[in-house]
Amino acid sequence: MKPITLAYLSQLKKEKRKFATITAYDSSFAQLFAEQGIQVMLVGDSLGMTLQGENSTLPVTVEHIAYHTRCVRKGAPEAFIIADMPFMSYSSPEQACQNAAILMQAGANMVKVEGGSWLCDTVKMLSERSVPVCGHLGLTPQAVNVLGGYKVQGRDEVTANQLIKDAIALENSGIQLLVLECIPSALASLITEELLLPVIGIGAGSGTDGQILVMHDALGITPKAPTFAKNFLAEAGNIRDAIHLYIEQVENGSYPDAEHSFE
Ligand code: KIV
Repeated sequence: MKPITLAYLSQLKKEKRKFATITAYDSSFAQLFAEQGIQVMLVGDSLGMTLQGENSTLPVTVEHIAYHTRCVRKGAPEAFIIADMPFMSYSSPEQACQNAAILMQAGANMVKVEGGSWLCDTVKMLSERSVPVCGHLGLTPQAVNVLGGYKVQGRDEVTANQLIKDAIALENSGIQLLVLECIPSALASLITEELLLPVIGIGAGSGTDGQILVMHDALGITPKAPTFAKNFLAEAGNIRDAIHLYIEQVENGSYPDAEHSFE
């Protein structure tokens, strides 16, 4: 397999071919995911909850993400790996550059930051210094204490319009991928059509270019998984077939269906 690039992901968008991505935290699962055909993996700060037993992503550090990025890179040498910038690791453009360097040197192809227009200077500075950036809008788990919980975002006109403005501002500043989490399907489709870059959804309906799931949700490990997640292991019977089924259902547009989306 050739290394997966951003140009390839943009081509998928142009050809309207949907793609499945998943979180990965270690080399064994990364290898299994790559073998089944997953080309993009996120070393998410969700590892605070899935691996560390925390009740939010806030305790996760740059060192934690760097460690797991190294592990994932070893298991999936050709995959496109996005590494999450943890809470308060990008509160200024300069701090973001220093911490992004650690994650890129650990093997990431791109870093992901949560938030809207306030990040434009940071995105510009990182991009100009050869660090590709993925945005993350909608339900941004690092802001759980401001949002008052893990709730669907953009349900009313004002917040929906703000999300659209933020997405455009971030694209103009240089992000090259965007994750939209827990927003109504129609809003996610509109943003996906508006932007040139590939948009990856989670709890954002089937209209985005790609989908992402936390691996523990896709494999039925999370005790109380979010309603948009689907336990593919329950349907497939073994982990390899579960990942294969996830990819197949994303590519043919059958996941997420209405039951796993917010209308
Ligand atoms: O940390 C993570 O796993 C994420 C996904 C939910 C997109 O950011």
